[in-house]
Amino acid sequence: MKPYDKKRTGKFIGWGGEHFVFAYDTDKVIKFSLHVWLSGRSAVEKIKTDYEIGQLYFAPYLLPTEILIYKNGHACAEIQPKIQCRFLEKKDINTPLIKEQFSDIMSRCQKMERETGWVFDLFGREGLFRFRPQRISNILVTPEDKLVLIDFTLLHLERIKARELPIWLIIQFALWRQAKLLQHFKD
Ligand SMILES: Nc1ncnc2c1ncn2[C@@H]1O[C@H](COP(=O)(O)OP(=O)(O)O)[C@@H](O)[C@H]1O
Ligand SMILES: [Mg+2]
Repeated sequence: MKPYDKKRTGKFIGWGGEHFVFAYDTDKVIKFSLHVWLSGRSAVEKIKTDYEIGQLYFAPYLLPTEILIYKNGHACAEIQPKIQCRFLEKKDINTPLIKEQFSDIMSRCQKMERETGWVFDLFGREGLFRFRPQRISNILVTPEDKLVLIDFTLLHLERIKARELPIWLIIQFALWRQAKLLQHFKD
């Protein structure tokens, strides 16, 4: 039995390279991870622990996420409130309210990296492969200019299975590229 209701699942909303996102009821979204589909239990565990770490370091910005686990721990779906949002763009950082939150997120990133050695995916797959992304696709801006993290994925794998090799390679690339790209947003 699946812990979510197929009949309540609506139209496809988006994909950032990892989660397939659909409407759920009128006010929520449901997300299915590609990594979970590829790796099962270890990826479900990662989603749980990543979210816990996210709550530890980024609580004021993290969108509440309900993680529904099924198939005996081998699959999961994530449910979140559906928010009105757009990607954070470099030019937004000129707005004082946004700048303040962005700097706060950056110092929280540094604190997490100092204390755990981990970094989270800010740009998403689509941003990372762009020549010079003008937006940070895992930081979203609401109409009230509040920054929200809808997608909190640590660029880290606990143990690497052979079939996770593509994901591991993307992570290595992302770590290198993100550090370079962020500089462009901090200038
Ligand atoms: N809670 C949400 N409310 C509204 N739109 C969302 C929500 N979560 C995701 N989306 C949309 O789906 C896209 C992909 O979601 P995301 O969680 O970033 O997936 P990925 O892990 O693939 O990057 C987002 O860019 C956004 O447009
Ligand atoms: Mg994303």
